[in-house]
Amino acid sequence: MLAGQRILLVIGGGIAAYKSLDLIRKLRARGATVTPVLTAAAEEFVTALSVASLAGEKVYRALFDLTDEAEMGHIQLSRAADLVVVAPATADLLAKMAQGLANDLASTLLLATDKPVLVAPAMNVRMWLHPATQRNVMTLQKDGIGFVGPLDGDMACGEVGPGRMAEPLAIVEAIAAALGAGPLAGRRVLVTSGPTHEPIDPVRYIANRSSGAQGSAIARALAALGAEVVFVTGPALAARPRGVTVIEVETAREMAAAVAEAMPVDAAIFAAAVADWRVTKAKGQKIKKDVKGSLPQLQFAENPDILARTAQMKKGRPDLVVGFAAETDDVVKNAAAKRLRKGCDWIIANDVRPETGIMGGQENAVTVITETGVDVWPRMDKERVAAKLAEKIAACLRGDQ
Ligand code: CTP
Repeated sequence: MLAGQRILLVIGGGIAAYKSLDLIRKLRARGATVTPVLTAAAEEFVTALSVASLAGEKVYRALFDLTDEAEMGHIQLSRAADLVVVAPATADLLAKMAQGLANDLASTLLLATDKPVLVAPAMNVRMWLHPATQRNVMTLQKDGIGFVGPLDGDMACGEVGPGRMAEPLAIVEAIAAALGAGPLAGRRVLVTSGPTHEPIDPVRYIANRSSGAQGSAIARALAALGAEVVFVTGPALAARPRGVTVIEVETAREMAAAVAEAMPVDAAIFAAAVADWRVTKAKGQKIKKDVKGSLPQLQFAENPDILARTAQMKKGRPDLVVGFAAETDDVVKNAAAKRLRKGCDWIIANDVRPETGIMGGQENAVTVITETGVDVWPRMDKERVAAKLAEKIAACLRGDQ
């Protein structure tokens, strides 16, 4: 998968640095050459000896090491790679990169390189959410720096939230995608996500509890495998995935129009919780409760079924159409019937009874129903469901299943 690719791996100083050892192992197992660079802080967490043994390469540490300058100057080092990867990328390294500082070997290489750069941030949740870090992230994104992670979850410091470094496997996939070597390279995939809002009047609307977390994770996982992703999202709470085309919509009808506009695609994944009905004749002014005792009467019309429309396209139907079925009872039976009714290839069923905590939560327990069978996946976090689903989609488009 990465045979012959040269990765310059900058290891920053954070507790996640130990995971970079596994990352090196995985990259080498896929045929890549890894040239490691350690910051001074990284040496507090991993030793140059362990990094060198795993990489099978010299480890670069100090900027003013004359031998290195004679053998390979920092400019050459920064350009000899096909891709520069920073993992873990600490708040300090991101700040230096955003400002263009170059006061040690790692930051100098990052400023001198003419190659694509991918960073895997890892830091305390407060540090990640701090406006300074978020400003730096935005600057770096504008500069074309690729990001993988961070993930939400329990952190070594005992806090919970975004800041955990992406898993080594996800970083390997992001590296492959950045090098145009992912299994979905050259494929265009559509993902719908989030709830829709159906207006009643200018201030009120009908909505549902979807957070958009699963849809965002799927878009991220597909992009990590190299797909070109069009992400059509309703007003969801979840962070928008990076490195994908994001189209923001509000109503089901806007979502239907955005989906039609995004065609043709190789695969379409409908993770949105689309409102089935809209209020006919939403009022142009706020409905007042001025007449005592009179309650507003709402009339409903059915929204277009975007999944069914796409699955039943006569011309230009995506090769793979995947729907979701949010059910509260007889999950598999109802979802299997829904697959046939809507005409999609797969349906991902999930049990959204409030006691499961799935809707709006971090975990999901899904059952994948295809033409050939029913596959029950164990409960896992939504990022893992997304990664597993993206692998399955890649295998299907390759013709492996
Ligand atoms: N869906 C869609 N457009 C709609 C309604 C649903 O694209 N107007 C898609 C969803 O994104 C999901 C699938 O259809 O992939 C199933 O949605 P769900 O609401 O569970 O099914 P419904 O068809 O609405 O059936 P019911 O509400 O009766 O369970």
